[in-house]
Amino acid sequence: MYTQSFNVPDQSDGEPGILKAVPGARDKVDPALQDGFDAVIDADGKIEPRDWMPDAYRKTLVRQISQHAHSEIVGMLPEGNWISRAPSLKRKAILVAKVQDEGGHGLYLYSAAETLGTSRDQMLDALHSGKAKYSSIFNYPTLTWADVGVIGWLVDGAAIMNQIPLCRCSYGPYARAMIRVCKEESFHQRQGYEALLTMMQGTAEQKAMVQDAVNRWWWKCLAMFGPPDADSPNSVQGMRWGIKRISNDDLRQKFVDATVPQAEVLGVTLPDPDLKWNETRGHHDYGQIDWDEFWAVVNGDGPCNKERLATRVKAWNDGAWVREAALTHAARQQARAMKEAA
Ligand SMILES: [Fe+2]
Ligand SMILES: [Fe+2]
Repeated sequence: MYTQSFNVPDQSDGEPGILKAVPGARDKVDPALQDGFDAVIDADGKIEPRDWMPDAYRKTLVRQISQHAHSEIVGMLPEGNWISRAPSLKRKAILVAKVQDEGGHGLYLYSAAETLGTSRDQMLDALHSGKAKYSSIFNYPTLTWADVGVIGWLVDGAAIMNQIPLCRCSYGPYARAMIRVCKEESFHQRQGYEALLTMMQGTAEQKAMVQDAVNRWWWKCLAMFGPPDADSPNSVQGMRWGIKRISNDDLRQKFVDATVPQAEVLGVTLPDPDLKWNETRGHHDYGQIDWDEFWAVVNGDGPCNKERLATRVKAWNDGAWVREAALTHAARQQARAMKEAA
């Protein structure tokens, strides 16, 4: 899964020493380098780690890819909470696979960010100290089993909408990581929808549970696409650089249009009295998103912000002995190899 607009500043932005990309400091940019970069972007080509790139391009990517990576890792928590309570062996196996996929997505993305000169330790420090942002959607609780299905259907569904254009992102390592991620997100969306379809053929209580989960998640999923275009001044630069391909509002509209017929098949009502087909626009109209709530959660005041961060920090601390043992083992192997080669 993935973060919101990628335009959200980390609290570390501007602070020295934290999450700063290593740009190979240049007081003056050689115009030939800038021209070469612009030519690749204009030709819709790929920028690779060894290529020259403007500092601002590098910094934007470090922020975006690291926020994306954090979102994948923190996104394991709301559903991981249900692995031990899944209603059948089949559902448990599916959920374990999905949560493991999200961990893998985080690792691809940390690796992609490292190619820009930042280190994994820097990124994790920023997450664990609360300075880095991640998707606000993961700061809400998963109250029932239906939440797991709705997260797959809507949250992973929104993630696919956001991430497919990133397969064409101008930065090579990020674009390539997204190809596999998107294939796995498709499985996540389908497993969630299928779980809900099964529940909707069940008892009245099960159907009510699905509707309740849809009611609680719908608006938060619309907010996942980030602030309206008018309030996203960085988007224009992101589009110029070929990092962002489709605007927040256009992605949100695509998601609404794709989801309405799925909700009809499922037999649930999307909780928006203003949601209706607009013949003139050829799209669905929808109501107002509560951006005050969105920003409050982004800035740390969601129902689960503290719990999510505390869980990540504990997992990191509990894993210290594994990292130390792996490093010791690697050093011993290297020493042995050098001795044998001597
Ligand atoms: Fe993911
Ligand atoms: Fe996912």
